[in-house]
Amino acid sequence: MTLTLKTKEVALLLGENGSGKSTLLKVLAGLYPYKGTISCTGNADHSDVTGYVFQNPETQIIGSTVWEDVIFGLENIGLKKEEIKKRAEWVLKVVGLYEFKDKDPFLLSGGQKQKLAIASILAMRPEFLLLDEPTAMLDKYDRTAVKELIKEIIRLQKGIIIATHHAEFFFDIAQRVIVLSRGKIIYDGFIENLPEKFINRF
Ligand SMILES: Nc1ncnc2c1ncn2[C@@H]1O[C@H](COP(=O)(O)OP(=O)(O)OP(=O)(O)O)[C@@H](O)[C@H]1O
Ligand SMILES: [Mg+2]
Repeated sequence: MTLTLKTKEVALLLGENGSGKSTLLKVLAGLYPYKGTISCTGNADHSDVTGYVFQNPETQIIGSTVWEDVIFGLENIGLKKEEIKKRAEWVLKVVGLYEFKDKDPFLLSGGQKQKLAIASILAMRPEFLLLDEPTAMLDKYDRTAVKELIKEIIRLQKGIIIATHHAEFFFDIAQRVIVLSRGKIIYDGFIENLPEKFINRF
């Protein structure tokens, strides 16, 4: 499989259950072993420029408060206290969870948990955000809230790949669509050129 990601691009990753979407995202994030090569421009390591957000945000919750959850990764990469505080405040304001910073993450709503999962990864300043079914577990209201957050992240000039079964919901914010079938890319191109047979299919 050959795939080239461009910075600041928004792509949708589609395909049936088990087609390999999550696997591909995890490989890109360095969370899975793989055969082959992944290269980045410059000397960056792909696992440093990508940030993977799990489909079920609860998988990712580590802190006993929203604040602790966000700073966990930042402490792990050895940032200074001041920088950690600055980034945590910034990211919680971006996702609109600052007022809940002392709350137990497990007591947040589904949409808020998804936002927290995105915040914790965004705080690490990845070049590409890899979102695994960010709206799968959400009702209509939270789905829209998460989409608004994704739009905000687009304004921050991040590249974003969204694996989703809600393709049409994201059509207006993405430029590119990648369709997987049994671990292989069967379409990769502009949304406008997406063959009819792939619309409303997954
Ligand atoms: N390129 C590949 N080669 C071999 N096995 C693969 C490949 N991609 C995925 N698999 C295997 O297929 C299974 C399901 O893949 P994965 O969870 O990535 O699917 P998915 O598209 O995310 O499905 P869902 O829509 O249900 O989330 C996993 O067991 C994975 O190891
Ligand atoms: Mg998956």
